[in-house]
Amino acid sequence: MWGGRFEQPAAQAAQRFTRSFPWDRRLFREDIVASLAHAEMLGAQGIIPAADAEALDRALTDLLQELVSAGGPSDAGDEDIHSYVERVIIERVGDAGRRLHTARSRNDQVATDFRLYCKGLSLRVAIGLLALAHEIVARASTEVETLLPGFTHLQSGQPITLGHYLLSIYEMLRRNTTDALDVFASADECPLGVGAVAGVGFSVDRDAVSERLRFSRLSRNSVDAVADRDYVLKMLNMSSVVMVHLSRWCEDLVIWASPGYAMVEFDEAYATGSSLMPQKRNPDVAELVRGKAGTVMGLAVGVAASLKAVPLSYGMDLQEDKQAVLRAEADVLAALEVMHGVVRTLAFNRERMAELATSGHALATEIADYLVEQDVPFRSAHEIAGQVVRVAIERDVELWELSDAEFIAIDGRLKPDLRGWLQPSAAVARRSAVGGTAPARVREEIERAEQWIRLYQGRVRELEAQGLPEELVAAWRTDRSDT
Ligand code: ARG
Repeated sequence: MWGGRFEQPAAQAAQRFTRSFPWDRRLFREDIVASLAHAEMLGAQGIIPAADAEALDRALTDLLQELVSAGGPSDAGDEDIHSYVERVIIERVGDAGRRLHTARSRNDQVATDFRLYCKGLSLRVAIGLLALAHEIVARASTEVETLLPGFTHLQSGQPITLGHYLLSIYEMLRRNTTDALDVFASADECPLGVGAVAGVGFSVDRDAVSERLRFSRLSRNSVDAVADRDYVLKMLNMSSVVMVHLSRWCEDLVIWASPGYAMVEFDEAYATGSSLMPQKRNPDVAELVRGKAGTVMGLAVGVAASLKAVPLSYGMDLQEDKQAVLRAEADVLAALEVMHGVVRTLAFNRERMAELATSGHALATEIADYLVEQDVPFRSAHEIAGQVVRVAIERDVELWELSDAEFIAIDGRLKPDLRGWLQPSAAVARRSAVGGTAPARVREEIERAEQWIRLYQGRVRELEAQGLPEELVAAWRTDRSDT
């Protein structure tokens, strides 16, 4: 590609070290589609002969089809996907191929390809998030009254319902989904036509290229256009947050599945045994999600660290971004898929959940609230309830096991009707203000969540149809059904 200036080829080790083909071969669709748009524009603008533009169009279209059926290009030693495509096209159409790189540099080319890729990927992540969210909300709808210990500091706090807990996972995924669409918006800018760093001196029609590639705006500064990797950082940060959420949820599931809690059981399809201990049913899937969260966070930090000292505009350091995104992608999509199966098949031990929901004096707040209803200031009520807990601990009993006389002895206002307040179902039902765990409230929130999921499934479909070149959407649809 740059043979003219050099007297000898690069050392084997240097070639091996600098090439990115083993990773960026996966961008072959993006590279060819962007080249198609570029060649068409060059012809339309009279920058290259119309006949050459037509020859390029045919050759690129054929190559795309061939590579799609072959499942991607095989490694013939090219430095990267851009040089691969250009080489093959030159081999096939000669001088027309040698005109393809007019008014283009690999710097604006790789930025264009990767922005297209990240736009598609952000939608695939959103689709995975919405599918998982849908499954979680479906399971919540049958657990609206199921009691569950609400923990803070992993200590018994107050009883909540399992439906309410599951909707807390939905909330995390809802935020991730809007983050994924923000990544789409961040990547949605066309840098093609800014050349290596200075812009180009030909009468390129950047708007036409951008529209053909379904970008919604143009990069407006050539230096920034080839240097900017904000969309990559956003993609990786969004992926990290997805993994952090899944990991926290998995941590709960690992704890809940342990014999001390025994509140859930992983289905055999999503559990593993031990090679030594025959009785084991291990939550390996959840543990691995937890582990991979660390890996994905590392990839995000790694790219940020690589970026921070790259002098404007382009530096080869930027090449590291592809590997990071492609590796994170594999983990995030797989984690979303596997958690979908986990939640679909997870068994809930409702009796055990109810037992733990009230143990550890988890209804103590009810005593304070009961007193507040009788006009006792909350801080004083809290103190009295604390005394009740102390007596119960001394006697080694639960709160409801204290006698009427014992309650009255602690404070004359603790009358027998307090017992009604010490029912866990009453405790959750009272918490009906917005955001609370009351079954009636949770039912409303489930409906809200279902509506939101439908709305965003529609938005994603719209972006798929309007925000990406057709060739790319069709392609990743097939990819998805393959995996
Ligand atoms: N393979 C490079 C990348 O992924 C693009 C090539 C630009 N290389 C260069 N030496 N200007 O970023």
